[in-house]
Amino acid sequence: MSASNTQSQTNDAVMPGIHQHPTQLSWLLVTEASSYALGVTDEGYLLQLYWGARLSSSTDLANAQLQFERSAQDSSLTAAAEVYPAQGGLRYGAIAAQASFADGTRDLDLRYASVEITEQEGLPTLHLSLRDAAYPFEVILSYRLDSANDLIIRSAQLINHGEEPVVLGRAFSAVWHLPQQFEPRRLTTLAGQWANETRIQQQPVVAGNIQLESRSGISGAKAYPWFAIDTRATEHTGEVYFGTLAWSGNWSLQIRTNITGGTSIEGGIHDHDFAWVLTANQSFITPDFVAGFAADGMNGIRHRLHRYVRSHVLPQPQASQPRPVLYNSWEATFFDVTEAGQIALAERAARLGVELFVVDDGWFPARNDDHAGLGDWRVDPQKFPQGLRPLVERIHKLGMQFGLWVEPEMTNPDSDLYRAHPDWVYHYPTRPRNEARNQLVLNVGRSDVQDYLITILDQLINEQDISFIKWDMNRPISEPGWPEYINAGHDGREIWVRHVQGVYKIMDTLRARHPNLSIESCASGGGRADPGILRRTDQVWTSDNTHPDARLFIQEGASYILPGRVMGAWITDTPSDRVRNEIPLAYRFHVSMLGMLGIGGHLIHWSEEELVEGAQWIAVYKRIRHLIQDGDQSWLVSPTETAGNWAAVECVAPDASEAVVLAFHRSNPFWENAPRLRLQNLKPAARYRIVEAGKTGETAAFELSGTALMNYGVQLPLPKTSYSSCILHLQEQA
Ligand code: DGJ
Repeated sequence: MSASNTQSQTNDAVMPGIHQHPTQLSWLLVTEASSYALGVTDEGYLLQLYWGARLSSSTDLANAQLQFERSAQDSSLTAAAEVYPAQGGLRYGAIAAQASFADGTRDLDLRYASVEITEQEGLPTLHLSLRDAAYPFEVILSYRLDSANDLIIRSAQLINHGEEPVVLGRAFSAVWHLPQQFEPRRLTTLAGQWANETRIQQQPVVAGNIQLESRSGISGAKAYPWFAIDTRATEHTGEVYFGTLAWSGNWSLQIRTNITGGTSIEGGIHDHDFAWVLTANQSFITPDFVAGFAADGMNGIRHRLHRYVRSHVLPQPQASQPRPVLYNSWEATFFDVTEAGQIALAERAARLGVELFVVDDGWFPARNDDHAGLGDWRVDPQKFPQGLRPLVERIHKLGMQFGLWVEPEMTNPDSDLYRAHPDWVYHYPTRPRNEARNQLVLNVGRSDVQDYLITILDQLINEQDISFIKWDMNRPISEPGWPEYINAGHDGREIWVRHVQGVYKIMDTLRARHPNLSIESCASGGGRADPGILRRTDQVWTSDNTHPDARLFIQEGASYILPGRVMGAWITDTPSDRVRNEIPLAYRFHVSMLGMLGIGGHLIHWSEEELVEGAQWIAVYKRIRHLIQDGDQSWLVSPTETAGNWAAVECVAPDASEAVVLAFHRSNPFWENAPRLRLQNLKPAARYRIVEAGKTGETAAFELSGTALMNYGVQLPLPKTSYSSCILHLQEQA
């Protein structure tokens, strides 16, 4: 590696980009609103010098200490903020990597070796090579810089240049350091469970360790691989550091805070039951750890991660096209799928204006409940005597695309696939195979299983003219054994990573063969919605819970990462425990219009009035979806803060010439007037025409300046009844 291609740092104001110091080994990464600096000590250790608000000049860090400070009293009292501390020496804080060598040495001593600056995925990228002081082992750290969104995307490549194998016990993506400060910080995380995903949790950051993780084999519903740490931030103001891991398997984020207010965040693929063996000249590349800094509060996270996901993560060309309004049969018919039943639903869906009709679970042999059939991905001749073609052709004639549900990683013991290949599931020969939802997990790390799934799914997509697959995953991995692999001398602990790599490979292959195919990621709802899966899927099924009261909380949390075009949201017949009409159809539509709109209700049971109203709201959604799916989303009133009683969300076009506001008031026992709502991110000097987008047309037109809308605010046209909601559409006037 060489230092060529680097830009020299001057004493003038530094522009966004990667800057190398002219005389010392240090680098300044500058984005529109943040700076990150790192450098090499005399001993060759790589330290983070700064991360925070954008510095005005290259001399701002002239006094930064490029020293590995050690306390004589307590070796753990080190102020060194190493960017990739490996287990070894006097290190008792964050650890990014651990490796064992053939001679029994189980630690690393990584020192700076060289630098290169390139461009990766259209972004300037700093590569820093570290070499072990005694062994032929290298780690290349990568920093991709998304200046426009104030994000740094880090990963590491661990390389064994020797002949003897090296066993990795931990290979995290990055360690980030927040500066020591007196003011208290607050941690926000997203926790949950099935039907209750991405619920916002907040706690003070005090001395100690906080572990966020998944150990179930997927990114999981219990915790989303994301964090935010702020200092007295509101929705619109204040400093926030945040990050997310692009990995769809076991992950770990550890947040360590020392007694003097310094915090580090280390994260990557979980080291629980993890090992990766590097034989001669092999390397291991970690997933991306995306992190950023915002000085404009919690909504600043949404704006940055949404833009990043849309422009750098989601597959093209789909990411540049409007996401279609979808119908999904699951909550209407469950396993009772028939040609006549689905055609009847499709006809009504088309009348509503649906653009994509998806047949969910139940279309393959023996699938009358969740006890049988998974793995046998062929059409059930009893339910569809003429195959799926008549249904697909009818759907196409109705002007809709066709989509189908599959759960490729699974098999039921009661299936032809399992009877033929009982060795294809994870298992230990001496242990029972634990079923969950009556199913077992296929060993997708095996190339024969990958080949089978690619062939059968490819065939299905071709034969049935499928535009969209809903890829489900409904149980965690257990008994993570692979006897043949272990008998061949491998380390069985690799399966957790090999499973994810297998899923990625199958999806990537299908996408390469079918460039117009869209994929929805589902794992009993939103259990696999991380930026790793988003590289090969176009949307996620946010939650099985479609109750609008629950949805506002779930969507508020998910929207920290998922832009509107990704976050699937359906109107269903939930809540079925009450009279359905107790929650007006308009309110249910408005909640689902915050994401990628779908319908999941039993349309045959919808009244004529409901069908007419549904069609009207879908027409409204199509007029504003460019703002919902691709605008900058701000939660102006947080349902989490109002215990779900109030919520207001604004989506602003990238050039701020247009915006939409959706507002909700669940219960109004005190007959309160709606307060004025102050909007955000508009052009101060522009005049906006504001209309209420109602189901039968636009009403209540008036004009106000951006300044007035952002300071004086707008009176929400909400009636004093419970479950009231409205949509305001703002357009800049010439
Ligand atoms: C779980 C998903 O979350 C549901 O939407 C549905 O697809 C079922 N699986 C089907 O079994």
